[in-house]
Amino acid sequence: MQNAYISGTGFYVPPRVVTNDDLRTQYGIDTTHDWIHKRTGIESRRFADEGIGSSDLAVHASVDAIAAAGIDKKDLDMILFATLSPDHCFPGSGVFLQQKLGLCDGDSPKFVPAMDIRNQCSGFLYGLTTARAMVTSGQCKHVLLVGAETHSAALDLSTRGRTVSSLFGDGAGAVVVSATTEDRGIRGTWLGADGRFALNLCQKVWDIKKRPFIPMNAEGVGQVTPENAWAQMDGKIVFKHAVEKMCLAVMQSCWELQIELKDIDLFCFHQANMRINQYVAQQLNLPDEKVVHNIQRYGNTTAATIPILLAESERNGKLKRGMKVAMVAFGSGFTWGSAVCDW
Ligand SMILES: CC(C)(COP(=O)(O)OP(=O)(O)OC[C@H]1O[C@@H](n2cnc3c(N)ncnc32)[C@H](O)[C@@H]1OP(=O)(O)O)[C@@H](O)C(=O)NCCC(=O)NCCS
Repeated sequence: MQNAYISGTGFYVPPRVVTNDDLRTQYGIDTTHDWIHKRTGIESRRFADEGIGSSDLAVHASVDAIAAAGIDKKDLDMILFATLSPDHCFPGSGVFLQQKLGLCDGDSPKFVPAMDIRNQCSGFLYGLTTARAMVTSGQCKHVLLVGAETHSAALDLSTRGRTVSSLFGDGAGAVVVSATTEDRGIRGTWLGADGRFALNLCQKVWDIKKRPFIPMNAEGVGQVTPENAWAQMDGKIVFKHAVEKMCLAVMQSCWELQIELKDIDLFCFHQANMRINQYVAQQLNLPDEKVVHNIQRYGNTTAATIPILLAESERNGKLKRGMKVAMVAFGSGFTWGSAVCDW
């Protein structure tokens, strides 16, 4: 059986920087830099301008990852697109990305399968598990896996929504997962979910059990209440379960691979909250220099956090060939996962 490895990484964040102070001064939210920073570590995030969707952000990150992998876009055999902020209800954003990458153009179009992954903050690791399976089974040689989010369009940027809206930002990260006969690559991935907490972090928008599924006014125009339009979160429960499940996910990967924590050179945790990651690092007694963060600059970009972190860490020299890297995520569902790669 061939191994699957990450042959290229890429990322893109929109240019508009929104600081914690900007949330107050530009959006009128009753908040302070200190409140947000103290509880989450976030200093700023990026917001895309109107007219830009998740597949647009994903194109930039994908082009970057494809170039880093040293392949042509038409070498791709499959697209996996992880997002909770797809361009539209359907079809999935993967087909928009396929078309925007130019895979359908020219004399030799490549109509690769495109699959969307709806596992929120764990979406990248659910996608990595799928990409690895497609490669190691011999069905694909190169799989493009993208995590991209345009949260800013769907945040309640008012004082009412401040608990959620101060946490999230826009961005995209991508990797190419490729086949290799070398003794390296993704050594294992482990996923979990607990549907009892499905509504503790959710954005309902509609209820398909109802007729009509979105209430209409007399003119037939859809009316979505704020509780349905915007994401709802029980922050304290999310925090508690995130720490617990992320610690367990790291320990499970070590146990399954019969390695010790000290064998891991770099920890790339999902960037939801600096304090969650500090608790996890503290409980596992991880040295600071082995844990990378970028939440200060981007906030929580959900499915994009881990691939952005991988791409940045490669570019700033913290992630190098030969290192053992652990990735861990937790999020809405609740869902979680971990992966270990020999880079
Ligand atoms: C969101 C989080 C920072 C909130 O911190 P908290 O200590 O639980 O705060 P609470 O929600 O209890 O709110 C405390 C007060 O601060 C207020 N508050 C919330 N957001 C605020 C903001 N951005 N600025 C100022 N005040 C804010 C609340 O309205 C509340 O006021 P009240 O006491 O008058 O009602 C924290 O729960 C958390 O980080 N949870 C995990 C979230 C997460 O990571 N989600 C993504 C997972 S993938």
